[in-house]
Amino acid sequence: MKVLVTGGCGYVGSNIVAALGAHGYTIGILDNLATSSHAVVADLQAKVDAQLAFFETDVTDREALKDAVKVFSPEVVIHCAGLKSIADSWHNPLAYFNVNVAGTINLLEAMEQAGCSRLIFSSSATVYGDPEFLPITEDHPLVPINPYGRSKLMAEAVMHDWQRAADGRGVAALRYFNPVGAHHDYLLGDNPKTPANNLFPIICQVLAGQKDSLSILGDDYPTPDGTGERDYIHVTDLSEAHIRAIAKTATPAFLVLNIGTGKPSSVKQVIAQFERHSNVPITTRIEAKRPGDVATSFASNERSLDMLGDYVGKTIEDAVASSLQAAGLKQQS
Ligand code: UFG
Repeated sequence: MKVLVTGGCGYVGSNIVAALGAHGYTIGILDNLATSSHAVVADLQAKVDAQLAFFETDVTDREALKDAVKVFSPEVVIHCAGLKSIADSWHNPLAYFNVNVAGTINLLEAMEQAGCSRLIFSSSATVYGDPEFLPITEDHPLVPINPYGRSKLMAEAVMHDWQRAADGRGVAALRYFNPVGAHHDYLLGDNPKTPANNLFPIICQVLAGQKDSLSILGDDYPTPDGTGERDYIHVTDLSEAHIRAIAKTATPAFLVLNIGTGKPSSVKQVIAQFERHSNVPITTRIEAKRPGDVATSFASNERSLDMLGDYVGKTIEDAVASSLQAAGLKQQS
């Protein structure tokens, strides 16, 4: 079966490509290389044991996108291409709506033209906004509090209307909590070309000596140790969830699934894990909270476990160990 992954050179996309390869799919990657390079494509082609076609295409380039989708002619598309920095989305909201919403419309048009009716979408827990209750279920109110979150929610709405507009269309919107870690063999980690915003890559930068210290962004949250709590899902488990969701898109429906572990970890707990695995103390500084950050966010993954089976096979220790390995950092033996 042919599967096209948009954004297939990015952190999550490349891990999904690796999982598709292991499951014997014929893979197309469509990526504009904004956060990667031809070297990443060559690396993936060398590592992934599968037929792999590459299209250097931007989802905002309507005609080029149509051509690429038509040439590859996938049965299923996994749509990961998009902009994903909350902070950046406040400065460049139009870019977020253009890439994440208009890019999605372009993709659906291209799929229609190529006769493809099955889609899996990289959505985000950010569509929920401030949690009104925990764990967050898929029925939680959808009140995103930044342009990035609004763009993801709008893209979901576009896909939902597209799905019900014709018979036979199947869409699964997977709402990721916090993807972390790296592929165990291929070491596909979160090493952004642009400045890192997320906790795991920033900790790796501190351990690599690229940053003097880690800023703990708030230590007086109403949590057991005062620091923010998140649901960190190993990227390999996240990829596995996509593989399992492929079969679900054969049934005409718009499926919304949280992808998370269902368990929160605090910033201090994550730091302690990195210190234990690297045996290097991490210098920290307490700083002001990041605007828009919530105290605690974690998934109810009941629906996704029910639909997909148990895809949560790895722990936060596994995620920390693989992140260190992918960043080329030594681990405590
Ligand atoms: N944090 C720090 N110091 C840092 C960076 C982060 O203390 O230098 C803290 C944050 O305050 C938060 C936790 O680490 O408590 C995790 O922060 P991340 O930036 O890694 O992740 P977020 O939960 O803020 O956001 C992530 C993705 C978003 C996505 C969201 C979904 O980056 O794209 O999860 O819940 F929308």
